[in-house]
Amino acid sequence: MYPTSFSGLTVLCLAVSTAVSALPLSDVETRQDTSCAAVHIFLAKGWNETYPGRQGKLAGAICYGLESCDYEDILFYNAPEADYCASITEGNNNGHAQMSEYASRCPDSQLVLSGYSQGANVAGDLLGGGGGSFGDQACTVDTTAGFDPTTSPGNKLAAVLLFGDNRHVANQPYNILSGAPYSAANPRSAEQVQHMNLFAPIIHSYCVETDPVCAADSPVTADVETHLNYFDIYSDEAAGWVKWMLENPQM
Ligand SMILES: *[C@@H]1O[C@H](CO)[C@@H](O)[C@H](O)[C@H]1NC(C)=O
Repeated sequence: MYPTSFSGLTVLCLAVSTAVSALPLSDVETRQDTSCAAVHIFLAKGWNETYPGRQGKLAGAICYGLESCDYEDILFYNAPEADYCASITEGNNNGHAQMSEYASRCPDSQLVLSGYSQGANVAGDLLGGGGGSFGDQACTVDTTAGFDPTTSPGNKLAAVLLFGDNRHVANQPYNILSGAPYSAANPRSAEQVQHMNLFAPIIHSYCVETDPVCAADSPVTADVETHLNYFDIYSDEAAGWVKWMLENPQM
């Protein structure tokens, strides 16, 4: 078992979450460390999660045993009253800015990107390009370009993880678990999939067939709990894959 806390590790959390802003100023300043970690994880949270959300467990498992590893939240507001597409647009813009800034300041760092649920929409948009209308949300996401795999920050990515992706597309080479042959209600466009697949060798997209979000068209009876428990079940396995990818760069 990996610990879910980061005690003993260098943790840098740039997110201004309620927990962080409630800390005394001296602690907040400590967290505004500008040093570079050998491995830096970007997390895009699920709908209505506080930073870092369920993926905190995954970040702990990835960093466990690594000498220099920390994480940073991609900042976007997605509480229940937020417009779905406005949240995605904000996440896409901030994700581009935060990852570009970190990669140019810390060019020797290996980057990991992980997104869960609505955050997987953001993480996938960062790779494949953002934009599109969401029928069930009656809204439109601003168009943004996907990363270029040959230039920074795209070429600094060692591994990308998606869990319960709101824009899951069936039968992609990086789909794993039983939901692999199914799609979300608002799957990525063909053009977005084509761009995202430039990163195919470094992606793992987790989806189980009973997850009503990523496997909306699955014939198996949905069980919402399976959308919520990815990090209880798969954090150690996913972290093991990331550690292997860090040591064996695929791109
Ligand atoms: C959103 O999260 C808050 C804080 O965890 C929780 O109290 C609230 O019930 C959640 N809202 C919905 C609609 O799930």
